[in-house]
Amino acid sequence: MEINKIAVIGGGTMGNGIAHVFAMKGFEVNLVEMKEELADKALATISKNLDRQIKKEMISEDDKKSILGRITKIIGVENTPVDVDLVIEAIYENKDVKSSIFNTLQLLIKSDSIFASNTSSISITELSVSNRPDKFIGMHFMNPVPMMKLIEIIRGYSTSDETFNTIKELSEKLGKVPVEVFDYPGFVANRILMPMINEAVFALMEGVASKEDIDTVMKLGMNHPMGPLTLADFIGLDVCLAIIEVLYKGYNDSKYRPCPLLKKMVAANKLGRKTGEGFFKYD
Ligand code: NAI
Repeated sequence: MEINKIAVIGGGTMGNGIAHVFAMKGFEVNLVEMKEELADKALATISKNLDRQIKKEMISEDDKKSILGRITKIIGVENTPVDVDLVIEAIYENKDVKSSIFNTLQLLIKSDSIFASNTSSISITELSVSNRPDKFIGMHFMNPVPMMKLIEIIRGYSTSDETFNTIKELSEKLGKVPVEVFDYPGFVANRILMPMINEAVFALMEGVASKEDIDTVMKLGMNHPMGPLTLADFIGLDVCLAIIEVLYKGYNDSKYRPCPLLKKMVAANKLGRKTGEGFFKYD
């Protein structure tokens, strides 16, 4: 199946990056947000990120104009154009809200279109809509989307080979490296990453070392580009908590229990970069 026209639902951290990458590769992108000002914010972020690429001489001013020209903002999921070939959902990590969006979309969008979720951890099989389970798949981009090469492609229980191959080829067209993953909680990336972040928060809570030193150990000792607490701030502590809870419930295993300090910080709205403060402070 040929994919030309897409819809990205949610223009937050991941959604605006996904829209950016598709528009750069010549796809017609509909960026769907809840409110006009949120859509404008997403477009402003894309514009700012394109300016960075101009500075690095990766694209020209004219390229920027054509890339932005390929992105149409849409307000309200119910206004998503019916003829998109692919929908990529990138709203916050909540199963019920994601399901309700897919339930609306399945009645609206043409029946041969593919539905993908950018969920970090929620079961693709459980999110699948009833009228096209074979055309439902996970497309787990990494943050920041324009820079990170990996896409985990998650096969739900009923995802067809045809859908998988279409999305694999599409990911390659975007210049990404797709990896085939089966549908288990946390997939591969977050099953390994989140227990490490959660353990770093336990180490901090128990006073094993300072936040700076915990990060330094992992940076200099393991050659990680950033420490786990800095990375958690970058991802968003609410997102980290939601993912570790999915692992905890999904495997019924106490080794995934979320650290009380992580829970407390989310309750205090210290979510990391996006709120200006997490483990560290940001301007
Ligand atoms: P975010 O909170 O930055 O953005 C979510 C966006 O969705 C917001 O702009 C919000 O206005 C919009 N939204 C919410 N309900 C909507 C609706 N009904 N219609 C249209 N738009 C709606 O969240 P983020 O970080 O972009 O995460 C999105 C998804 O990507 C989550 O499933 C998350 O687990 C996953 N993810 C996040 C990564 C990260 O590093 N933040 C990395 C990889 C995946």
